[in-house]
Amino acid sequence: VTASREASILAAPTPEAWLTAACAGWRDLLIDHANCEKKAASTALAFLFTYPEDSRMARQLSRLAREELRHFEQVDKLMQDLGVAHRRMAPSRYAAGLRRHVAAREPARQLDLLIIGALIEARSCERFERLAPRLSGPMAELYRGLSESEARHHQLYLELARRHAATHGLDLDGRMAKFSQLEADLITSADPEFRFHSGVPDARED
Ligand SMILES: [Fe+2]
Ligand SMILES: [Fe+2]
Repeated sequence: VTASREASILAAPTPEAWLTAACAGWRDLLIDHANCEKKAASTALAFLFTYPEDSRMARQLSRLAREELRHFEQVDKLMQDLGVAHRRMAPSRYAAGLRRHVAAREPARQLDLLIIGALIEARSCERFERLAPRLSGPMAELYRGLSESEARHHQLYLELARRHAATHGLDLDGRMAKFSQLEADLITSADPEFRFHSGVPDARED
């Protein structure tokens, strides 16, 4: 895994303040991380329901969904080992903030959803990669491993987006530029809630 692979679509790196907050609040990080793995599986599965005719994509995303559920099981195991209990936590503004800008009509809509998938996987990969050296023990180990998987997932969504754009003559680069800017804004602006994909921790909340 090289940082340059996902850096190619991420318009801004994760701010230091988020990394510091994540290490201090590693219990909450794990709880939301477990939710993110479930959400990643269900997002991949949603593509199978929405676009059943795309059987090649369905096979690829079915595999990805199974891998995300395995990640959930790994995080769950770690939480049990570390004595961290699951808890219902409202999702961050992140995914909804990106989805708000998805085109209403097909085939543009599918391209936007695939681009968002690529960006979320790229950001997850970057965060795991940057968190691993700051953490210790089994959590550092898990995050190192996950950063490799998320780099592959990022590549897959990007490949699916490329294929879809080519088939329908859509402007991949233009849409990617728009969504990667939106993504960077969500990651670098102040955020009152701490989550796996939150922005800069808002000091006033503490
Ligand atoms: Fe995952
Ligand atoms: Fe993933």
